[in-house]
Amino acid sequence: MKDPKPFGVNELREMFLHFFETKGHLRLPSFSLIPQNDASLLLINSGMAPMKPFFTGEQEPPRHRVTTCQKCIRTGDIENIGKTARHGTYFEMLGNFSFGDYFKNEAIHWAWEFLTSPEWVGLDPDRLFPSVFAGNETTPADTEAFRVWNEEIGVPADHIFKFGKEDNFWEHGSGPCGPCSEIYYDRGPKYGCGKPGCTVGCDCDRYMEVWNVVFSQFDNDGEGHYTELKQKNIDTGMGLERLAVVCQNVDSLFDVDTVMNITNKVTEITGAKYGQSHAIDVSLRVITDHIRSATFMICDGVLPSNEGRGYVLRRLLRRAARHGKLLGVNEPFLYRVCDTVIHENEGHYPELRERQDYITKVIRVEEENFAKTIDGGLKIFNEMLAGHKAKGEKTFSGGDAFKLYDTYGFPIDLTLEMVEEQGMTLDEEEFHKQMEEQRQRARKAREALGDLGWAGVEFGKDIPETQFVGYDHTTVEGAKVVALVVENEQAEELMPGVEAIVVLDKTPFYAEMGGQIGDQGTLTADGVTFAVTDVQKNKGGKYMHYGKLTQGTLKVGDTVTAALDVERRKAIMRAHSATHLLDKALRTVLGDHVHQAGSLVEPDRLRFDFTHFSALTAQELGKVSAIVNEAVLEGYDIVTQELPIEEAKKKGAIALFGEKYGDTVRVVDMGSGYSVEFCGGTHLDNTAKVGVFHISSEFSVASGVRRIEATTGKASLAVMNRNQEMLFQAASILKAKPGELREKAEAVMAEVRQLSQSVEKFKAREAVSEAERFLFSGHDVGGLKVLTATVPEADANRLRKMGDFLRDKEPKVVAVLAAVNGEKITFLAVCGKDAVKAGVKAGDIIKQVSAIAGGSGGGKPDSAMGGGKDPLMVDNALAMVDNVVSMKLGV
Ligand code: ALA
Repeated sequence: MKDPKPFGVNELREMFLHFFETKGHLRLPSFSLIPQNDASLLLINSGMAPMKPFFTGEQEPPRHRVTTCQKCIRTGDIENIGKTARHGTYFEMLGNFSFGDYFKNEAIHWAWEFLTSPEWVGLDPDRLFPSVFAGNETTPADTEAFRVWNEEIGVPADHIFKFGKEDNFWEHGSGPCGPCSEIYYDRGPKYGCGKPGCTVGCDCDRYMEVWNVVFSQFDNDGEGHYTELKQKNIDTGMGLERLAVVCQNVDSLFDVDTVMNITNKVTEITGAKYGQSHAIDVSLRVITDHIRSATFMICDGVLPSNEGRGYVLRRLLRRAARHGKLLGVNEPFLYRVCDTVIHENEGHYPELRERQDYITKVIRVEEENFAKTIDGGLKIFNEMLAGHKAKGEKTFSGGDAFKLYDTYGFPIDLTLEMVEEQGMTLDEEEFHKQMEEQRQRARKAREALGDLGWAGVEFGKDIPETQFVGYDHTTVEGAKVVALVVENEQAEELMPGVEAIVVLDKTPFYAEMGGQIGDQGTLTADGVTFAVTDVQKNKGGKYMHYGKLTQGTLKVGDTVTAALDVERRKAIMRAHSATHLLDKALRTVLGDHVHQAGSLVEPDRLRFDFTHFSALTAQELGKVSAIVNEAVLEGYDIVTQELPIEEAKKKGAIALFGEKYGDTVRVVDMGSGYSVEFCGGTHLDNTAKVGVFHISSEFSVASGVRRIEATTGKASLAVMNRNQEMLFQAASILKAKPGELREKAEAVMAEVRQLSQSVEKFKAREAVSEAERFLFSGHDVGGLKVLTATVPEADANRLRKMGDFLRDKEPKVVAVLAAVNGEKITFLAVCGKDAVKAGVKAGDIIKQVSAIAGGSGGGKPDSAMGGGKDPLMVDNALAMVDNVVSMKLGV
């Protein structure tokens, strides 16, 4: 048997794409790892996934034959990564696709030609084994594929295997799927398990599946219902790294050239050697694999978070960081591996280099955040472990795992892995139970915050949903009161002065939703006024008007005129329309990774949370603000339409990630496509009515989430007026014209600096002359000149100046000065040169003196400082200086 040629990963990729170009295929770049308009997938996991609409015929492909090398992530068996040769979360899938063009025959012929022709990969045909679908109750056996392999290609019948749905029917999530034919490569007995009956399909590493040709002819609705597609398609997938394993004749995915270069970088940083022990190899592979995934995910706009694909990323980074710790690395290091990942891949993925700084920064910050908690978490984990072991338990409790997650951000699979390393199991069921309980608690807490706390009231079925007419009207007459609620109980009638909820059959009031707050206004009838302060919609679709009956009585069955505060509503609409323009401007300036993460719309005020990694620079903020204000000045028409969801998507409407939408959606379009969003809120009819858009602040609210607060209309004018007023006031105080304020302020500050310097100089001179006077009061103790003095209200600085002067002026001096500032006492002792020579040390003196006043102190022989707490003892303290000196001198 002949050995393969050792092609490199980058070489194989190019060879494949080129081969299919010679067969009339259009080469497309890899699609993003983030699925577009496909809620069935968190991350792209195969070559066909981003092209589902081409398979179903929903969308016209750029050509009916396409070839790609697609970046893919599969995290299904994350815990096996690194332990076996075949598992990796990140891989690249080579594929050739036909959308209603060629079918079985060509697909099989080309696969064979590419793999075996000496002009291409040139594998030994005797080592290749195809498999075909054996059929089941619903789908017949694929005799046609068998025939092509056997008769046209010439593969002997005993080299062709027939498998069931498990192996030879391909589907992933919902969408196009079908029976498939796989090609296995025999790597030789060296890789086999040696068991009798080991052959194609065995679990061991001998027969490696390299190619999968899917005859994509069904559509799965996600619930197991298959319908025949209008067109017959081909979807093929070949793992690039797997093909490289075969060609390079190496043991695992981690040993192929480009991946090994990454591992080498990891060994260089960690100092661990590959091949030293199984445990070290596992850690090195985990790090290598996860950093590849993380680099590509971040490049495509995923940020670490606690849900969805952000959580997948966080798990990968945290798991890799912990394996770094196992290798003895105690500081962030993953970000240093990025450059190598980029270097190995940039030929095909130039975007990596463009976004290098950003990617590196995201990884580094996540590592730093995790580092802050991991040590504390590991300590607690070890304590928990010791507790379980002491009790002889073999199961680590779910409650403990939950605590590690909740307090230290340990993803569950990290805890699971650590538990398994100890030969124990984890009570995952309990963990998930506690997670669910926490979710419930959070929900209850949110509900309890409902304005008057009465939102939970249950209504009977006889009370209809409220009809909302507030998109077109601000007042409705003849609205019927269908229910009343007081103190969480339904009531028949309201008395004047009572706080209550009124439910109407129709209303113009907008209930708080999608970040836009509820309307305010009045419900009135003859002699009756109910002041509405907030509106919430309950689960049954009833609009709950919260407020107070200020006049008259109100009964179920009465009719009222419901009129909202129009000025307030207009201000809300200004803020809401500006929010859409802001979203658009942020994407324009920062990029498509910006997604709305939260929003609050109030009268002329808005708060917009969005995913972005770093603080916006002044320049970026300036640009964002300018773009919004330009769109305002353009005076774009704002058109709102109800559309079937598919049509809305075609218009490119931006939906909130993870949000469920019905069959028809409301779409708000500004400037015929300038900004198109799914939105149920109330909007202006023209962007010009926003008035002035003004950003008041920008800051971080969570890792990877920034917040912008801004104003519109009257609130912006108020801000501007206030600023103007402050400017005039400041100018008048400084006696300057507003236009000259800056120069004037600078001049005043310069003058202040100069003055304070003069004052300092003056104080120093004054301190010296006061000290000079003290010298006269000095008296002789054993030939030294001892003096003590209290300097009222002096600060430490002044004392020191005086002390320095005394010490330098009089070699024989021993001086102790005390300053009393309220309760605070400061002592300073200095000794001149002769005094020090005679054995008297300022440091010793200060200790004794401060102690008497209830404090402590210390310092050098020639100068020392101390403090005291008892002002009444200052005189006593000073009085003992003579004694201390005589004792020292022995006189
Ligand atoms: N979509 C097929 C796979 O991923 C080719 O194996």
